[in-house]
Amino acid sequence: MERPSVRSYSIRGSRITEAQREAKNALQAIYGIAVETKKINLHEIFPTSEKIIMEIGFGMGEATAIIAKNHPNNGYIAVDVHPPGIGKLLARIIENDLKNLRVIEDDVHVVLPYMFEDESLDAIHLYFPDPWPKKKHNKRRIVNQGFLELIHPKLKKDGYIHIATDWVPYAESIKDVFAASVLFSGGVIDKPESRPVTRFEGQGIDKDHQVTDLMYFRK
Ligand SMILES: C[S@@+](CC[C@H](N)C(=O)[O-])C[C@H]1O[C@@H](n2cnc3c(N)ncnc32)[C@H](O)[C@@H]1O
Repeated sequence: MERPSVRSYSIRGSRITEAQREAKNALQAIYGIAVETKKINLHEIFPTSEKIIMEIGFGMGEATAIIAKNHPNNGYIAVDVHPPGIGKLLARIIENDLKNLRVIEDDVHVVLPYMFEDESLDAIHLYFPDPWPKKKHNKRRIVNQGFLELIHPKLKKDGYIHIATDWVPYAESIKDVFAASVLFSGGVIDKPESRPVTRFEGQGIDKDHQVTDLMYFRK
């Protein structure tokens, strides 16, 4: 599998709690989707779901679980690289009796091209991607032209990506990246009620960070 040379995430020490490790060991085989180079059949996974939505970078998954619970008619695929968060979200699936959520542990730059058919997703959620505030790290921001080219074919026509960030320079950069692309149209929106406050967002609000929600539709 080809992997990106620049990582959009930091390799944090995998300080995983016993509960997270146990959840991972017990539940990943049931509610996780193994990473492989063959396309997955989303209709087999979610036979009755009206919409299929991917969340990229769910962190500890509190918002993910709330969204899945509030929209039982949709199917959710949650992708992250961080083992403690994988364990935590798997545990939330049991705690909330969620039938419509599956978890993939890997970089979305690998997951999307290898595992997803074109035009298979109704929407993508990207909530509080790592802001990489230092100039020398800006190239690690996940939203760039390559990312737009990655997600565009996987979204259905008129499918959308909903992004939220609490880092104003990142919001500006996201606007610039989309403005320079012919693949999407959209811009800043009011925060939809359907998006719960995430853990990362809560930490930013405590520091008076201004949150921007953006939505772009596939052309
Ligand atoms: C700043 S955290 C935000 C987490 C959560 N959305 C929230 O708002 O609390 C960003 C998350 O994105 C994940 N991430 C970054 N790049 C990723 C990638 N290429 N593929 C999958 N997950 C990624 C990180 O591991 C991290 O959990």
